[in-house]
Amino acid sequence: MADNLDAYKFKQKTEDGEVGRTIKVGIIGTGWIAGDHAECYKRCPGAEIVALADIVPGKAEAFAKKHGLENVRIYNSDRELIDAEKDNIDAVSVCTYNRQHAPCAIYALDHGVNVLLEKPMCVTLDEAVEICRAEKRSGKIISVGFQPRFDPNMIMLKEVVQSGILGKIYYIQTGGGRRMGIPTPFGTSFIRDDTAGIGALADIGCYSLDMVLNSIGYPKPLTVTGYTSGFFGKKPEYLDRPEYTEEFSVDDFGAGFIRLEGDIILDFRIAWAMNIDSPCDTIILGTEAGVRVPATDCWNGSIGGPLTIYSNITGIPVQTLIPKRDEDDLGNFDKKIRSFVSAVRDGGKAPVPTSQILYNQAIIDGIVRSSKLGREVELDIPEI
Ligand SMILES: NC(=O)c1ccc[n+]([C@@H]2O[C@H](COP(=O)([O-])OP(=O)(O)OC[C@H]3O[C@@H](n4cnc5c(N)ncnc54)[C@H](O)[C@@H]3O)[C@@H](O)[C@H]2O)c1
Repeated sequence: MADNLDAYKFKQKTEDGEVGRTIKVGIIGTGWIAGDHAECYKRCPGAEIVALADIVPGKAEAFAKKHGLENVRIYNSDRELIDAEKDNIDAVSVCTYNRQHAPCAIYALDHGVNVLLEKPMCVTLDEAVEICRAEKRSGKIISVGFQPRFDPNMIMLKEVVQSGILGKIYYIQTGGGRRMGIPTPFGTSFIRDDTAGIGALADIGCYSLDMVLNSIGYPKPLTVTGYTSGFFGKKPEYLDRPEYTEEFSVDDFGAGFIRLEGDIILDFRIAWAMNIDSPCDTIILGTEAGVRVPATDCWNGSIGGPLTIYSNITGIPVQTLIPKRDEDDLGNFDKKIRSFVSAVRDGGKAPVPTSQILYNQAIIDGIVRSSKLGREVELDIPEI
């Protein structure tokens, strides 16, 4: 599963003066994160936003005005946009809340439109499988919006692990958390079952899982024992408005014990709210060395500090601190948009492929199922 993360480095105009085609893009769902998509497309050479859709009347119009998008065509739903624009646009960014990820992505792919799908990929494993099948039958590109993949420190972590210096990897602990970080500044779409479907487990848990699974090469998950709870979303002081407690209907904490192919154990915990500063650092243990990735105060998929490698040289336990890599001028979000644009225009691979994120979603789904059943579950992931 080769990455195509460098694709963002394209220049639309080459040294011989050749100019690449400008790709035309629609944005589906004009809420919070759509603003970042819009600004990054505006800065991206060779991309033009031509259409917007939102199911809330007037929201897409206000978004167009705020982001200076003149002459965009505006629609009342994803389907209206795709039906009207499918022969005109190359791609859409799907920026809806989680429950609408699968229907919007599948509809776009089935009508021949490439998709940049926000994280988490979707809500259930069944939906993830359907997205992968739609991708296969369409022959189009779908990339999942994990911008931390482009973080130079995430890339370094993967390089360290892939170098083999850890020996055989047998145990991984990962996760992240926030003491008071239930996301309600822009309303309740993250905390309602009918819009988000899953809470912290999918929203920020997907980042922790991606960090470690991507660095070890995304082995297949086999079984999961999971737990979820939602105690803090019922406490008014944890939400931007007290009345939001009435709407809180997802998890704010999740944990899982996962067996991965290759005899690797993954121990995972994630929280939007908790009575401790951090649930854990990330550690990857191998027979020759271990690596520690320090936790952050407010987990959102970025690395908290320098990595430490622990090893044993001629019987002497040693620790090697790897300094953090500087970010370059282009931010991770810009790289996510540009690599997708490049893959669509130049026919490259999806920078963050569904074949990997399917396993991420299978673990999340397994934790939810196991928590409901109160026992371990096997993960039955079909071949696509
Ligand atoms: N990559 C990141 O850093 C990042 C950050 C924040 C959010 N996200 C993800 O982005 C997604 C959206 O988050 P948000 O905070 O922008 O949510 P939001 O609630 O602010 O916006 C979602 C918008 O989608 C619209 N919508 C829903 N279904 C639609 C449909 N079928 N057609 C057209 N419009 C539709 C809603 O009306 C709403 O305006 C979530 O899945 C979230 O996990 C990613």
